[in-house]
Amino acid sequence: MTAPPAPKTAPMTTRVTRADGTAIREAAQRLAEGHLVAFPTETVYGLGADATNGEAIARLYAAKGRPKFNPLIAHVADLAAARALARFSAAADLLAKAFWPGPLTLVLPKAEDCPVAELATAGLDSIAVRVPRHDVAQKILAAFKKPIVAPSANRSGHVSPTTAAHVLTDLRGRVDLIVDGGATSVGLESTIVACLGAPTLLRPGGLPRGDIERVLGHPLAERPQPSAPSDDAPLAPGMLASHYAPRTRLRLDAERIEAGEALLAFGPRPVAGAEKAAMALNLSARGDLIEAAANLFSQLRALDAAGAACIAVMPIPHESLGEAINDRLRRAAAPR
Ligand code: TXA
Ligand code: MG
Repeated sequence: MTAPPAPKTAPMTTRVTRADGTAIREAAQRLAEGHLVAFPTETVYGLGADATNGEAIARLYAAKGRPKFNPLIAHVADLAAARALARFSAAADLLAKAFWPGPLTLVLPKAEDCPVAELATAGLDSIAVRVPRHDVAQKILAAFKKPIVAPSANRSGHVSPTTAAHVLTDLRGRVDLIVDGGATSVGLESTIVACLGAPTLLRPGGLPRGDIERVLGHPLAERPQPSAPSDDAPLAPGMLASHYAPRTRLRLDAERIEAGEALLAFGPRPVAGAEKAAMALNLSARGDLIEAAANLFSQLRALDAAGAACIAVMPIPHESLGEAINDRLRRAAAPR
């Protein structure tokens, strides 16, 4: 087997292209050559690399500025392809059949002859696998015919991108090709469930916990909390305390707005002092958590760019997708 040609290292030219048939073929071709390709999934944009190519994955970590211990999700076209990577328990099988393709990632024992490069799983004997629902992601997977590792296409520590423009802002000169498929519909990263023993919620996300528990017929186990969340807590890779970070400080559960603050509102209820806000956006004026999730990251970016002293965030209900929205907001507000 001949090694793929070693692509040039940064700085490179980043091209953004509309997601038509030519773009899909080019994306697959570029991936096969060991290049990085950003593409939309229904949750957020991913920064894709050939999951079987260790060098491409090393470049991916470098492009993101991501700590190497933080393992990646392998994306595949369907359950049959996922079975080549990982072992499915009965519960995992049930969840895959109920929710794939869709915003659910399963962490499973790695299959013996799993072709995914060791670097992608950061030396763990488990692997995160997901079948995305987005038409463009599905077409790229079909054309590439191999698993694609794809973290969210942002610089490490930044807010996840829900448009091609967000990707360009963060990764210009660090990614070869960005396939533009419009704004993502879910807007939050996938929900991650480990099926290594009792199914355990590792990250709340675009698929509400309640939907998963209904299929399982029992509650999910909770991820063991590291005593002090830190950037190198090995128990919880990727769940860094201040992971989703705008530059501007966040103030959560705000009941009144101070002069000069930016406001991230939720629902129809007016908040005291809103007229004093430097800038105001509403996640969902009608109080819809699905709409709020889809707007979360782009509105955080827009408010961050306003240069206010602080972003005041109104309380968001904890039910359904509210769990994941509040999780991301808590991380964005964590001291760093
Ligand atoms: O919606 C999504 O999941 C997006 C799209 C692009 O698919 N991807 C995404 O990837 O959010 P990333 O890399 O930003 O987040 C993946 C998370 C990280 O927190 C990582 O630590 C965790 O998955 N993870 C990956 N493999 C794992 C494993 N074997 N055990 C525990 N956690 C794992
Ligand atoms: Mg991410």
